[in-house]
Amino acid sequence: MTAVHPDAEARAAAKQPRNLLDPGFELTLRPMRYPDFYERYRDAIKNTWTVEEVDLHSDVADLAKLSAGERHMIGRLVAFFATGDSIVANNLVLTLYKHINSPEARLYLSRQLFEEAVHVQFYLTLLDTYLPDPEDRADAFAAVENIPSIREKASFCFRWMDSVEKIESLQTRADRRRFLLNLICFAACIEGLFFYGAFAYVYWFRSRGLLHGLATGTNWVFRDETMHMSFAFEVVDTVRKEEPDLFDEELTRQVTDMLKEAVEAELQFARDLCGDGLPGMNTESMRQYLECVADQRLQRLGFAPVYGSENPFSFMELQGVQELTNFFERRPSAYQVAVEGSVSFDDDF
Ligand SMILES: [Fe+2]
Ligand SMILES: [Fe+2]
Repeated sequence: MTAVHPDAEARAAAKQPRNLLDPGFELTLRPMRYPDFYERYRDAIKNTWTVEEVDLHSDVADLAKLSAGERHMIGRLVAFFATGDSIVANNLVLTLYKHINSPEARLYLSRQLFEEAVHVQFYLTLLDTYLPDPEDRADAFAAVENIPSIREKASFCFRWMDSVEKIESLQTRADRRRFLLNLICFAACIEGLFFYGAFAYVYWFRSRGLLHGLATGTNWVFRDETMHMSFAFEVVDTVRKEEPDLFDEELTRQVTDMLKEAVEAELQFARDLCGDGLPGMNTESMRQYLECVADQRLQRLGFAPVYGSENPFSFMELQGVQELTNFFERRPSAYQVAVEGSVSFDDDF
């Protein structure tokens, strides 16, 4: 299918306002077509944090206390974190920035790119602290090729990046659907499921009084990722309003299958991390958690949930409350402006 999207052609002929996915590099900010994206950019700036604020000292003493199973889990987590945010940042630049044609959205994406860089720096610092041996550090970066449970997740990401690689501009309905699938994949499956799974292991350690430095940095990464996902879903909502015909049964099936595949990939990672199970953390409880999160993502996107699972991790429900508390405690010293209720975690647990 190579024909220009008929709506785009008609709008161009009539000089009507463009849609968000119409190709080009829109520059006009007044009048502002997408003020919500601009407000999200401004809100994100209020949440600035730096890696230097995270104190990892007590983690080093904790690492020495871990059992062999726990050490294995942390090694795998660090290896996943080593490359995860770089993959997201690459997709942001190569695909999202290119095709979401709104200067307001591109402001937000510029800010998100900075946040992904801070995440990469945080995980690099974590890796340098947790793995003193240079060979172990190199192995962590190579995990994306050498550790099957991490390679599987990476190849899932790369497949969805490759699916849009050759699209120069979103001319056709088929192009737009492929772009939407990439956007939904990175928000719902990667930031919204793979990363949430990883955060659950971190908060499981914290619930046992361990690795507070990692948990502190994770609180801030978690908040950023929640906002990245929320922005992406708002883009999906906007496209749905502008081009409802893109959201048909086929897209519903594709998104649902994609989420199921992401749950399976994350479960393979869980089997690797949990082995025969640790107190309060095993593959079965992680399965329930991932299914519950996947259902939430589907529902947020307007699709039917498929699993009907409950969240088994009370420490993740607590996380919503604690994170908000930390957020307000930190506000006087760390944030430039009052929050005004722009951050809510309630919907994501
Ligand atoms: Fe990130
Ligand atoms: Fe992100």
